[in-house]
Amino acid sequence: MINDICCIGAGYVGGPTMSVIALKCPKIKVTVVDADTEKINRWNGPLEDLPVYEPGLKEVIKKTRDKNLFFSNKIKDSIKKADMIFMAVNTPTKTEGDGAGMAADLKYIESCARDIAKYANSDKIIVEKSTVPIKTAEKIKKILVSQNSNYKFEILSNPEFLAEGTAIEDMSNPDRVLIGGDPTPSGKKAIVSLFEIYSQWVPANKILTTNVWSSELSKLASNAMLAQRISSINSLSALCEKTGADIEELSKAIGMDSRIGSKFLKASVGFGGSCFQKDILNLVYLCKFYGLHEVADYWHNVVKINDYQKSRFTQKIIDYFLSTKKTKNVTVLGWAFKANTNDSRESPSISITNSLLVEEFNIKIYDPQVPKTKIMNDLGITYNSNIKICETLEESVKDSNALLVITEWDEFKDYDWDMISKDVMIFDGRRIIKNREKLFKIGSS
Ligand code: NAD
Ligand code: UGA
Repeated sequence: MINDICCIGAGYVGGPTMSVIALKCPKIKVTVVDADTEKINRWNGPLEDLPVYEPGLKEVIKKTRDKNLFFSNKIKDSIKKADMIFMAVNTPTKTEGDGAGMAADLKYIESCARDIAKYANSDKIIVEKSTVPIKTAEKIKKILVSQNSNYKFEILSNPEFLAEGTAIEDMSNPDRVLIGGDPTPSGKKAIVSLFEIYSQWVPANKILTTNVWSSELSKLASNAMLAQRISSINSLSALCEKTGADIEELSKAIGMDSRIGSKFLKASVGFGGSCFQKDILNLVYLCKFYGLHEVADYWHNVVKINDYQKSRFTQKIIDYFLSTKKTKNVTVLGWAFKANTNDSRESPSISITNSLLVEEFNIKIYDPQVPKTKIMNDLGITYNSNIKICETLEESVKDSNALLVITEWDEFKDYDWDMISKDVMIFDGRRIIKNREKLFKIGSS
């Protein structure tokens, strides 16, 4: 029976997942710790300024914070007190060394393991919540056993499947929860203790238990399959633009086949977010490592088509301005990688804006949730006379000769586009704008 949980990592996964666990399990004390003190201060600060924007999150935090949910930078104390420790730290693509540009960088996972080994003063169950390459549990165990032989550590894999923008709903009502553990008596006991937590609100038939390796690999494979659907539909959107077929009609026709299904068939300017690209590259790296070069190439193409989709969209804009005498004043509408999040990691808006800057465009940018400092940071600049970040949609569209719709925010869907001069070209990378003359929709000719 678990009484005290510590979660290392108070980011987009650690914050929302632990809030829901705290809400559903009022008898368990949940402490979310992070090395980033400013982030912890924001988690403890006003509900309007939490570091993660997610629909429904502040309501959950309001009900649980300082009751059985705590945010803290006292990592040592929290590790000591906990019976179960979740690792929800980032696992980005490596930027240097072996596997740079492909493999997952496990330095944050390793540092968590070292902290746990250093501070643990009782047996612990360690839960991999971060997305990790297969066999990571083995690495964690090696660090723990070699650096702390006084206590027993059981490692579980419990990958997270929530999507940003719907994190609270996904956590509250998941399609499935996956728990991977060792088939030993102590491994089975650890699986049961995590199973008991989730079964407070998730029906037992939706909680799947597997061996650790299947669980670790299922997470990478799930993301690869989801992203593959987007790249498949996006590849066909290019053909639609050449032929007069319409990608939305295609998606509907394809998706009505119950064997295929309708989800994740929405053509777009390309997928973004911190995970799809990094997880597929990680899968590609693993396949290469095991000598499966054909399999590696197959998955690598999902990422390559995504890059192609973003550059195709940018080229349309460049070509349009080559064919007019208009000044290159454009507005990027949406900076977040999808609606209902303040996360802009790997957002298509970043690469599109960078490419247009090279072509000397003047660019106004507007996003309802991503702050100015974050946008500048994403572009790697502190000032650029060609960039203006706007506070309102109205300000951003003023005097622009083309509007680029990158994020499907409701504010853009609901906007009265008839108020914009008929002369302004709209490049709709999300297919949210209806009936305008000067309109390029991704996937339509
Ligand atoms: P994030 O960058 O938002 O949060 C990670 C946090 O961990 C950061 O706040 C960082 O300061 C902290 N951290 C790193 N090392 C630490 C250490 N040693 N001690 C204390 N704190 C430390 O990342 P995220 O988006 O929450 O993703 C976390 C993991 O979950 C990744 O592996 C990701 O692939 C996976 N995942 C993410 C999502 C998502 O929607 N973002 C969904 C499912 C799975
Ligand atoms: C994705 C998965 O959906 C989650 O299950 C997974 O847990 C998570 O990655 C992760 O491991 O991080 P997320 O990236 O938050 O979640 O958001 P998605 O809804 O999957 O969208 C990813 C990108 O694909 C966005 O840019 C979105 O706009 C795009 N997308 C999605 C499309 O272009 N078309 C679609 O039909 C669906």
